[in-house]
Amino acid sequence: MLDTTAAVVESAAELELIDGLPAEFRWGVATSAYQIEGAHDEDGRGPSIWDTYCRTPGMVEGGENGDVACDHYHRMPADVSLIASLGVDVYRFSVAWPRVQPGGRGPANARGLAFYDRLVDELLESGVDPWVTLYHWDLPQELEDAGGWPARDTAYRFADYAMIVFEALQDRVRTWTTLNEPWCSAMLGYCEGRQAPGRQSFDDAMDAVHHLLLGHGLAAQRMRAAARKPIELGITLNMGTSMPATRSLADQEAARRADGLGARIYLDPLLRGQYPGDILDDLSARGVKLPVVDGDLAIISEPIDVLGVNYYSSHLVSGVDSAGRTEDADGNPVSSTVPMGRPVTAMDWEIVPEGFTDLLVRLSRDYPGVPMVITENGAAFDDVADESGYVADADRTGYLSSHIAAVAAARQRGADVRGYFAWSLLDNFEWSYGYAKRFGLVHVDYETQVRTPKQSALWYRDTIRRVRGG
Ligand code: FCB
Repeated sequence: MLDTTAAVVESAAELELIDGLPAEFRWGVATSAYQIEGAHDEDGRGPSIWDTYCRTPGMVEGGENGDVACDHYHRMPADVSLIASLGVDVYRFSVAWPRVQPGGRGPANARGLAFYDRLVDELLESGVDPWVTLYHWDLPQELEDAGGWPARDTAYRFADYAMIVFEALQDRVRTWTTLNEPWCSAMLGYCEGRQAPGRQSFDDAMDAVHHLLLGHGLAAQRMRAAARKPIELGITLNMGTSMPATRSLADQEAARRADGLGARIYLDPLLRGQYPGDILDDLSARGVKLPVVDGDLAIISEPIDVLGVNYYSSHLVSGVDSAGRTEDADGNPVSSTVPMGRPVTAMDWEIVPEGFTDLLVRLSRDYPGVPMVITENGAAFDDVADESGYVADADRTGYLSSHIAAVAAARQRGADVRGYFAWSLLDNFEWSYGYAKRFGLVHVDYETQVRTPKQSALWYRDTIRRVRGG
């Protein structure tokens, strides 16, 4: 017999928190272009770093790729109806740069741009607000060949591309996110090589950090100047709470470094106009200097209207690795994560909702005055679908409930959080994990492309309706 006592008590507390969210709180679902669109070579789309990475043997689980994905490019109107049926206010999607500028520069590819034009119209006709992310990791391959994000020119190319999309959609789109998770682009893409383009150079990654931020700032300034009506402009960062594993100085230092390279190296230049001094010192001890040119920080700190926060987990950080070493092979100090012993998702990510509350409260304290929206939060679990495609995903529903409650708890402690997006609308291409990891509120049968809302989707719909008082 399933012991539900604890769960019931827990969810009563969660329910109370969630039901205390204001009626104007924004609710949404999020996706990204490469993960769902497919149609990888249609209507003039050029290759991106993800197309190339997927074709590099050994990089993606099962040799999978986004060629077809959820075939959203061909099923968009039905997918928009699905979104509307969940009762969300807003849908966050990304525009594929290689559809709009196949080689990353030059004039717009009208057929590629037309897809997003239709998507925006379809959303508005269905009563759903569009929220555009301009870059969710799919750099045109030609720009990578010219140096990628470690090259300064890429920042300028990004701003040009952003303006093409902005001019085409600004009459109907109010909310704009420049970049999704620059940490992933820089660190996973250029340092760890676990995501496209798969380079492994710390120096390249640090150059990428600065040029991603510069690209954000250049685009933000130009969009702001060209806006014909009020816009809501921001950037999305992925963050968690980094806690020292013990009170030892080594662990505290490791947690400081993890937080510095994971969060503050983005937050400080964006919101305070300077890089964090302790991290600059750490970098210079490694012989690394950020490629900052005079005037860059003023561009990067162009005021934003909303900070997008993506949260999945939090970590205990140690200054000693599993082999007992305090320095890596290059003599740099170690920051390793150690398990807290919490239940994990199918990604092996520990489930730490209170780390979410702590993060939001800390952000509102350290970077006051910037409203936040949770632009992604969700979980992969090993779903089992019945013959009809339905998944009774109590685990995902529990994750969502505890994390939305964590947001509500942060608001009670003063964090200015104005909305929440579940990641993700659909099961989709989970980057180097391929299709095995399912994050969707809606199950996708990849053979037939049939979509079936899971229990979590229905719970989410009912929760939104209840909180809004509908
Ligand atoms: C985030 C990404 C998103 C998805 C989720 C699980 O880091 O922004 O595309 O992969 O993780």
